Amino acid sequence: MSESVRPPGKSREEIAAAYRSEPWWYDVRGFFILTFAYNSTLLRQMRTFGPNFGPRHLELACGTGTFLELLLRWRSWKKLPKVDVVGVDYAESMLAGALNRFRGQDGFEFLHADAADMPFSDGEFDTVNIANAIHCLPDVDGGLRETFRVMKPGGTLAANALLYPRGPWPFKGIAQRINEWGIRKGILYTPYDEADVRRRILAAGFELVADSVSGNCYDVLARKPA
Ligand SMILES: C[S@@+](CC[C@H](N)C(=O)[O-])C[C@H]1O[C@@H](n2cnc3c(N)ncnc32)[C@H](O)[C@@H]1O
Repeated sequence: MSESVRPPGKSREEIAAAYRSEPWWYDVRGFFILTFAYNSTLLRQMRTFGPNFGPRHLELACGTGTFLELLLRWRSWKKLPKVDVVGVDYAESMLAGALNRFRGQDGFEFLHADAADMPFSDGEFDTVNIANAIHCLPDVDGGLRETFRVMKPGGTLAANALLYPRGPWPFKGIAQRINEWGIRKGILYTPYDEADVRRRILAAGFELVADSVSGNCYDVLARKPA
C-alpha cells in the first residue's frame, strides 16, 4: 500500500463495530501494533501525552482507557496535578471498558460521541489528547475542527498519527502488512504523511508548538491561538 493507492476507509459505524473486541485482546493487540506498526514505545507515548493535561482535559477517542490510566499513573509518579477528565469515543464497547476501569473515581466522565460532532460548548477544555487515533477517524478534518472549537484559547492539543511505513527490511514490510490488515478490519482508516497531518492541524486553526517523527509515528503539540 502506498499513498497513491489509498483504499477507501470505512464509515464511523463500521469502525465502531471493528472495535467491538474484548478489552484484554484490544490491549494485547495494541501493544503489538505499537511495536511493529508504529515502531514506537510506551515511554515515548507517555512523554508525548503525559504533560498535556490542563485542569479540564478531553481525552478524545479514549478507547478502553488503558492508555489514559497509564498516563495518569505516569503523572502521579511525576507528582503532576490531578485534573478532571472527560473521555469520548464512538465505539460503545470501548467506552464500556473505560467506564468500568474508572468506575467510582471522582473527576471522570465518559461520553459516546463522534469526534466530528461533540456535545460540548465552545472553549470548554484546557487541553485535548488524541492518542493513537487520528488515523482511525473517518472525518479527521471534522474531528480537528471540533477539537479546536471545544478548546479554550491558549489550550494545547497533543496528538500522534501513524505514518506510511518507512525504514529497512523487514520492518517496513511488517508494518505495511499490519496496516493492510487494520484497514481491512476497520480499526485503521489510513496512515498519513507527516506533512499532510501538519497541514490539516494548521487548517483547523491551530498553531504548531512542536513536532517530531520517530519510527512510523508523527507526534505533534499544537495550540489554539490565545
Ligand atoms: C487505536 S484506538 C486508540 C485508543 C486510545 N486513545 C489509546 O491510545 O489506546 C482508536 C480509537 O478511536 C476511536 N474512534 C474511531 N472513530 C471515532 C470517531 N469518529 N469518534 C470518536 N472516536 C473514534 C475508536 O473507537 C478507538 O477506540
